[in-house]
Amino acid sequence: MENILCIGAGYVGGPTMAVIAKHCPEYRVEVVDINAERIAAWRTDDLPIYEPGLLEVVREARGRNLFFETDVDAAIAPADIIFVSVNTPTKTFGEGAGQAADLQYWERTARQIARCSTSPKIVVEKSTLPVRTAEAMEAILHSAASEVQFDVVSNPEFLAEGTAIADLENPDRVLIGGHPTASGQRAVEAIADIYRHWVPEERILTTNLWSSELSKLTANAFLAQRISSINAVSALCECSGADVREVARAVGMDRRIGPNFLRAGVGFGGSCFRKDILNLVYLCRQYGLSEAADYWQQVVNMNDYRKRRIVRTMIGAMYNTLAGKRIAVLGFAFKPGTSDTRDTPALTICKLLLDENATLAITDPRALDNARKDLADAPRCEFTDDPYEAVQGAHALILTTGWPEYAALDYRRVHESMAHPAFLFDGCNLLDHAALAEIGFRVYPIGAPPLLPA
Ligand code: UDX
Ligand code: ADP
Repeated sequence: MENILCIGAGYVGGPTMAVIAKHCPEYRVEVVDINAERIAAWRTDDLPIYEPGLLEVVREARGRNLFFETDVDAAIAPADIIFVSVNTPTKTFGEGAGQAADLQYWERTARQIARCSTSPKIVVEKSTLPVRTAEAMEAILHSAASEVQFDVVSNPEFLAEGTAIADLENPDRVLIGGHPTASGQRAVEAIADIYRHWVPEERILTTNLWSSELSKLTANAFLAQRISSINAVSALCECSGADVREVARAVGMDRRIGPNFLRAGVGFGGSCFRKDILNLVYLCRQYGLSEAADYWQQVVNMNDYRKRRIVRTMIGAMYNTLAGKRIAVLGFAFKPGTSDTRDTPALTICKLLLDENATLAITDPRALDNARKDLADAPRCEFTDDPYEAVQGAHALILTTGWPEYAALDYRRVHESMAHPAFLFDGCNLLDHAALAEIGFRVYPIGAPPLLPA
C-alpha cells in the first residue's frame, strides 16, 4: 500500500483527497492541517466547507483509507507522496505587497518536510504558486542534512468551488509537470497512476515543471479576462441601450469564442482569480515585462471598476444619497453554491455602501457566518437568514450572489414590505426584470438600461 499525505485540509486539499481516496482504495490517504478545529470538523458530518456531493464521498472513504490528522511531523515520515495544498494568499506586507504570493506557509511546509523525512518522497505542488517555486522547493528539500531523495512535481488544481466534486470526478485535464530526468519522469508517472484510476489517459497531460506552474496562472487569467471583457461591454450597454445578455449570446455563438464565462455581473471573486492575476503581474514585472504586466493588471482594474460602478448607479438612481437608507443585500458568497466569501464582490459593495452611510441588511443561504466575520468591525450591518426580513422596510435591494432561491422569492410580497419607490439592482441578471417592473420595482439590471414602472 502506498501512503499519500496531503498537507492543508482546505477547499483544495479536502475534496481532492476525498476523491482520490474514493477511487484508489489501495492507497492510504491522510490529510493533515495545523488548524485542529478544521480537522475535527472533517471527522464529523458537519464538514468545514460546503460543497455539493462532498459529504457522500468523504463518508465512503473516511476510516477506510481516508484519515484526517493534526500531527504534521508524524505524518511526513511514512508518506511516499506528499501533496502540498497550504494557502498562498497575496502578500499584505513588504516587497510585492498586494501582488506577490505570500509564501510563508508554503516555505514552512517545505522545511518541515525536509526535517521529518527519512525515506524517498515525491512532493507535489497542489497550491497555486508563482512560476519557478518548485526550484525553491527543491533547494530547501535538498539542503536537508539527510540524503533523502526528493522529486518535486507540479499538479495544479483546476476545480471550481460549488462544483468541486464534479470537476474532480470528470476533469477536462489533469496536468502534471516534472523534470525530464529519469527520477523526475518516474515521479510524474507515479502521480499519473493515481489519476488513471478514473481519468481517461488522453486527459492526463504531462509537461515540464515551469509550464505546469504557468498553465494554472494562465488558465485563471484567461477566465478572469473574459469576465472583465464582458463587464467592460456591460458598462457600454448600460449607456447605449444594448443588452449585454444579447451581446454575450451573439458573441458566444461564435465557436471560436464559445459561450462560457461571458456572464456580466458585479465582478469576479473567489480565492483564485485576483490572486493569480496579481501573481502573474508581479512575475512579469520581475522579468522586466512591464507591457505584459500592465495588460494583466487591467483585468483586475476592470473588475474593481465594475463593483464601484454598480454603487455609483445606486447612488445616482436613489436621488444622489444613500445616507440613512436601508439596503437589503441578497447574497454574500462570491458565487452561488458555496459558503466561501474570499474576495467576494459583495464585501466591496457593502463597504462602499457603508461609506455612503447606508444601513445594510445582509442575507445569504450559506455564507452568513463568513459575512459576519468579514464585516465584524463594520457599523450599521444586520444579518439575517430570512430574505423577507432583510427587505422589510428597505429602500433598495441589491442582488449580489445569484443563488437560485432568490429567483423563487415572492416579489409581490417583497415589494409590499419595502419602502417606496422600491429600487432593485440585479447584480447577477438573475431575475425577470420585466415582471419586476410590472410589480412596481424600479429595476436596474447589469448591462442594460433600467426598467422603470409605467
Ligand atoms: C476558479 C477557476 O474556475 C478554477 O478552475 C480554479 O481552480 C479556481 O478559480 P472558482 O473561483 O471556484 O474557480 O469559481 P468560478 O466558477 O471560476 O467563478 C469565479 C468568479 O467569476 C465568481 O465570482 C463568479 O461569479 C464569476 N463569474 C464567472 C462571472 O462573473 N461571470 C462568468 O461568466 C463566470
Ligand atoms: P485552498 O483554497 O488553497 O485550499 P484554504 O485556506 O482553504 O486554501 O486551505 C489551506 C489550509 O492549509 C488551511 O486549512 C491552513 O490551516 C492549512 N495550512 C497552512 N499552513 C500549514 C502548515 N504549515 N501545515 C499544515 N497545514 C497548513
